Amino acid sequence: MTASTSTTEPMHLGVIGVGVVGKAHIKRLLADTSPARLVAIADADAEAATTVGADLGAPVEASVADLLARPDVDGVIIAIPSGLHADVTIAALDAGKHVLLEKPIDVTVDAADRIIAAEQRSGKTLSVVSQRRFAPENEFLHGAISSGRLGNVTAANIEIALWRTQEYYDSGAWRGTWALDGGGALMNQGVHLVDLALWLLGDVEEVYAHSGLLAHERIEVEDTITITAKFTSGALLTFLATTTAFGNLPLRVAVMGDGGAAITLSEKLTHFHSHDGQDVPEFEPADQQLGQLTDFVTAASTGTRPLVTSTQARAAVAFIEAAYTSARTGQPVRPR
Ligand SMILES: NC(=O)c1ccc[n+]([C@@H]2O[C@H](COP(=O)([O-])OP(=O)(O)OC[C@H]3O[C@@H](n4cnc5c(N)ncnc54)[C@H](O)[C@@H]3O)[C@@H](O)[C@H]2O)c1
Repeated sequence: MTASTSTTEPMHLGVIGVGVVGKAHIKRLLADTSPARLVAIADADAEAATTVGADLGAPVEASVADLLARPDVDGVIIAIPSGLHADVTIAALDAGKHVLLEKPIDVTVDAADRIIAAEQRSGKTLSVVSQRRFAPENEFLHGAISSGRLGNVTAANIEIALWRTQEYYDSGAWRGTWALDGGGALMNQGVHLVDLALWLLGDVEEVYAHSGLLAHERIEVEDTITITAKFTSGALLTFLATTTAFGNLPLRVAVMGDGGAAITLSEKLTHFHSHDGQDVPEFEPADQQLGQLTDFVTAASTGTRPLVTSTQARAAVAFIEAAYTSARTGQPVRPR
């Protein structure tokens, strides 16, 4: 049997990891709107895979190795604990599969580099989930900055202030550990907005941070972190990530320049002011995750670059690693 990718057949995907996020990927692939076909699912916990397969009506493979050995699987979506991403992703790429990998790419720059080396030798497509880039408002903001509508960007103020209960951290042994979660409010939740910050503002020269564990217990990592950073462009950033904001606040992205300024609150553009006029399009509601899945499938089928690349996902982890080093040492740190 040959791999099924062709211009007429939808791409055939498997899902590895059937936890909270894996289930959402499975449902998306089973929906009428899916741009790809679900072939099978697998999990290190075979019983969990069997249960989820029966609940959702998805075919189940006995193991991840069995799923990766199938020639009719073109690619896989990987949704397993973050600190295990590299080994499973490398196995998938080495088996000749395209990979859509959940965020973060892994929890260290070294692990990201191992993934990127495997991606390069495989010639397959790898993208890392960062669904907020697929919100039309964020696409608009990216375009507005790139085309100079904000003038010379001078500063940004970004905030992800969520609430996570103690039960959330207690719900999986991997949560809140350095080895498998890779960090707390910044690595797990904040990585989405770190990726947005770098996408909007470019490369980072230096990071300085303070962190604390202020409203949770029995975890190794921070639940609150404040960061200041300087971009190579000269622009300055203040960034807050916390899981201690009871009731959750809207995600806030404010970008300022000498020709304009914009604010989004949980992806809604609440302020836009530009030297060339205040025109903004009508934003249609969009399914961000479906947008990213479609982008990945298109890139893998046509050999084009996905919107979120492995190098960009590595840069987000390098920023986070630098912030953690800074918080620990009290020194400013240049991301690797
Ligand atoms: N994009 C988003 O908005 C978003 C949201 C939440 C979580 N995530 C990411 O999704 C990933 C999974 O998070 P979750 O909340 O679904 O976790 P979870 O604990 O609910 O599920 C993880 C699953 O992976 C399985 N697993 C563990 N090791 C495995 C291995 N080596 N091979 C195969 N299966 C293995 C577990 O048995 C479990 O079923 C994490 O990387 C997390 O950062 C992304």
